[in-house]
Amino acid sequence: MEAHALTARMHNSTIEFPFLVLLISGGHCLLAVAEKVDRFLLLGESMDDAPGEAFDKMARRMKLKNLPEYSCLSGGQAFELASQKADNPLQYKFSVPLLQYKNCNFSFAGLKNQLQRHLVDEERQKGVPADGVIPGINNLCAGFQLAITRHLCHRLQRGMEYIERKNLIPDDKKTLVVSGGAACNNFIAEGLRIVCDALDYKMVRPPPKLCTDNGVMIAWNGVEKWREDIDVLTNFDHIDIEKTAPLGISLIQDVELERISCSWVKLKKLTLPQRSWMEFQELKELSRIM
Ligand SMILES: *[C@@H]1O[C@H](CO)[C@@H](O)[C@H](O)[C@H]1NC(C)=O
Ligand SMILES: *[C@@H]1O[C@H](CO)[C@@H](O)[C@H](O)[C@H]1NC(C)=O
Repeated sequence: MEAHALTARMHNSTIEFPFLVLLISGGHCLLAVAEKVDRFLLLGESMDDAPGEAFDKMARRMKLKNLPEYSCLSGGQAFELASQKADNPLQYKFSVPLLQYKNCNFSFAGLKNQLQRHLVDEERQKGVPADGVIPGINNLCAGFQLAITRHLCHRLQRGMEYIERKNLIPDDKKTLVVSGGAACNNFIAEGLRIVCDALDYKMVRPPPKLCTDNGVMIAWNGVEKWREDIDVLTNFDHIDIEKTAPLGISLIQDVELERISCSWVKLKKLTLPQRSWMEFQELKELSRIM
């Protein structure tokens, strides 16, 4: 997770500590301030699934793979492509998770349940066969993707307002690094960009092939640590290996104690250049090779 956060600096040497990082992948969802190579402040993390995992499971549940167009895309890519074809993203109602909790934690389990309920209702009403796809599939995908985006934007905005109160990042360094497989989703990224613009952050997305290549990320983490002479071993007799380790210092409780009520940045302007099927194909190819 630390490596994820630092990889953006390999591609872009202008990114200086401290910066904010949002890691959204198939295994993780967390928001943290990277203060130094080995010092992280955790503002929020997922209480259940990761967004990439939610996309994959739901794409499978909706049987998107049974449509040739989506058969070789990842769940997140299938959602992005289907959502582009939606004519009414608000057809199916989704409530944004954790609205009443004034922290930066994430949760995706409730959204998955909401999607499944819509799906079961539609399948029953329209008499959809077992391997079939509901007629409103594009709108359903768009509704789910929008709710995930709004949730991520909410948590991000509160995190930024907390950082402002606590002076954790100086004004001239305000940068958000968005990393992880789900960062490749252009719709999510545009939502995050709107929040960044409103709160005066620059947003940086490392190229997809870096966001998904664990080998490169870990090697870069080694380079960063070597340069700072952190954890550099010369004696290999005693190496401590820990099975799990938390990311940095948790400020999750402290964020909640601040009771920050945000007036949410509007995502109304959220439109984006559409990606062609070919581009999705290239993206897929990249993540497969990696
Ligand atoms: C590099 O990061 C800076 C912020 O530090 C950002 O303004 C710039 O757009 C980034 N460049 C690229 C190529 O991502
Ligand atoms: C945030 O999520 C973590 C991980 O599930 C959990 O341990 C923690 O209690 C949560 N904090 C709050 C304030 O909900």
